[in-house]
Amino acid sequence: MAGKFVAGQIGCGAFAMQTLGPNLVRNPHVAKVKWACDISDEKARAFAAKFGAERKTTSFEDVTSDPEVDIVCIATSHEVHVPIIESAAKHGKHIFCEKPMAMNELQAYRIIRAARSGGVKLCVDYMRRMAPAVVALKREWLRHKANPKHQPWQYVERPREKFIEEKLTDFFIRVQDESSSYRLVHLDPFTGGGLIIGEAVHWLDLACWLFDDDRPIEIQAWGSPRMRYGIHLAFQSGNAATIIETPNGTFDYPKEMYEIACDGSLFRMEFFVENQYYGRPGIEKEVFALQKDPFPDIGKQGGLSGYLEKYKARVQNLSNSKRVFSSLLADHGYEAMLDGFIDAIINNTQTPCDELAGYRATLLGEMAIKSSELNKPLPIPMDKWDYFVNL
Ligand SMILES: NC(=O)c1ccc[n+]([C@@H]2O[C@H](COP(=O)([O-])OP(=O)(O)OC[C@H]3O[C@@H](n4cnc5c(N)ncnc54)[C@H](O)[C@@H]3O)[C@@H](O)[C@H]2O)c1
Repeated sequence: MAGKFVAGQIGCGAFAMQTLGPNLVRNPHVAKVKWACDISDEKARAFAAKFGAERKTTSFEDVTSDPEVDIVCIATSHEVHVPIIESAAKHGKHIFCEKPMAMNELQAYRIIRAARSGGVKLCVDYMRRMAPAVVALKREWLRHKANPKHQPWQYVERPREKFIEEKLTDFFIRVQDESSSYRLVHLDPFTGGGLIIGEAVHWLDLACWLFDDDRPIEIQAWGSPRMRYGIHLAFQSGNAATIIETPNGTFDYPKEMYEIACDGSLFRMEFFVENQYYGRPGIEKEVFALQKDPFPDIGKQGGLSGYLEKYKARVQNLSNSKRVFSSLLADHGYEAMLDGFIDAIINNTQTPCDELAGYRATLLGEMAIKSSELNKPLPIPMDKWDYFVNL
């Protein structure tokens, strides 16, 4: 490795082993991953062995105080982010933090304070913003919105002024998951926080990223924040995002499907591997390469049908008695997010998802929980949305 940055990994569980570690060592600007840190010595040892870390420890301070370390990557359980980030920032380390950045506003406040007073870059891994299929979906939506073209069908379009509803965009996010994938730690209110704080933050962030400087003004949620819920997020322009997550689905079909309906069009992203564009003439379906593909000779057509064929091959000889890390991975944007963070350090620019975005996703997650408990829509307080902008 010929890069110039020295990294330390704090939290060496499943995600660090499967995703962060490989992405760190393949980034050309990372000279080495010097530290493997986990409160479980066994996990630290396994990470060090796999990624060639020289040192292992059970104490994060060993990593954050090491003068040789430039970058700290955090993939612990969520509730311990604050002391790690405060220590890392105090020692001037740049921070790549797994989602959710914070479990509540107070934690977010401490994290923002720490990062800004330490003058360090912080990036939250809401990496769906960086997935090639999602970037393409946004690009095509913006293109259509700016210059709508309609597919002719049986009605003759009569020129008339559009109603206000017809000028808006609806963003639908459908997530179907199999609950056997959740460990109790994910569902515990004090560690994982349940799936709104642990998972919906991804899609709340995504909706804010899609609609950019459009401000969310109201949130309404139903169901259980632990694992089965719906969230409706209304924006100032009238645009809206609707998120539905069920734990009662199956791994036999991919987890996520996003749809954007706008001015006579429906643009759909199927699990980061295929985008379909309906209603706009002259635009073809797009397929996207996988990040890891151990079955290049199966499902060569790619896209959703290709992925499903590969998936069938992958699960053929599996049993439930032993956990096997998946070697089949759609491009969710993991690599691009880490690369974007490191580029932001090099160029001294904003990270692809900074501490303000991290705070806002947490704020919306907390408000969604409150809304589901009160069973009513809640306004997003204007002061809270902007509170940290100038902090
Ligand atoms: N961006 C994504 O899409 C994505 C996907 C999966 C997981 N994650 C995030 O990554 C994080 C880890 O998830 P995981 O599935 O690997 O969980 P995990 O439980 O397998 O790993 C967490 C590890 O952190 C260690 N740990 C806890 N407290 C620590 C401390 N104070 N110091 C050092 N180590 C400590 C634990 O011992 C454990 O090994 C979570 O925050 C999760 O939300 C993000």
